[in-house]
Amino acid sequence: MIAAQVRIAIAIDGPASSGKGTVARFVAARLGYSYVDTGALYRGVGLLMLRAGLDPTDAGAATRVALGARFDFEWREGSLRLKIDGVDETGSIRGEDVGRAASAVAVHPGVRSALLQAQRDLAARGGVVMDGRDIGTVVLPNAQLKIYLDASLEERARRRHAEAPGVPLDAVRQQLEARDRQDSGRETAPLRLADDAEFVDTTGRSVEEVVQQVLALARDRGA
Ligand code: DC
Repeated sequence: MIAAQVRIAIAIDGPASSGKGTVARFVAARLGYSYVDTGALYRGVGLLMLRAGLDPTDAGAATRVALGARFDFEWREGSLRLKIDGVDETGSIRGEDVGRAASAVAVHPGVRSALLQAQRDLAARGGVVMDGRDIGTVVLPNAQLKIYLDASLEERARRRHAEAPGVPLDAVRQQLEARDRQDSGRETAPLRLADDAEFVDTTGRSVEEVVQQVLALARDRGA
């Protein structure tokens, strides 16, 4: 008997620079699924806060910004673009300052609940690979496959340093440690390994090796 293929939901969580974005994008492309980068939504809120001169630790202001903004993902020439209120902001959300603001606004329960339904809607039809911090635990608790991607702090710092060599390696390591503390230590939806997630360590492994491992797990789940 040949098992029918189904379009499953794949949740990929993990700390900053664990490789989840790259792996998620490749896995989605191979399966013909859509890829959703949920960190981009938190970065979008962080960006709007910084632009408005607001303090990202201000829960009320951050919640109002998250509730008031319209986020749309679009695929263009093979890359995922984020539009905020109709304006393409893909190039504006990647900086370290925006990442820090994203991590700060992500602490507020009001911000998280403002973004929750939009994330669920994006996954509603299945055939999706979604990456973030709380996808397997909160956003898609029924995802057919949950992956927790990790790598040693040293390796994550090296990867990030290679992308932005202007910042000394030591400083990059400290920024990552601070981000880990904030994302894993917060009260609402902290980064943690879901009980039913597969733990995948990417330290010392190539992207292709990890992608193949995730694809094999996805096929086991019927993808
Ligand atoms: O994945 P990233 O580094 O682009 O995410 C930026 C920040 O957004 C991250 O430090 C914490 C927050 N985030 C979150 O709290 N929950 C998610 N599902 C995704 C990101």
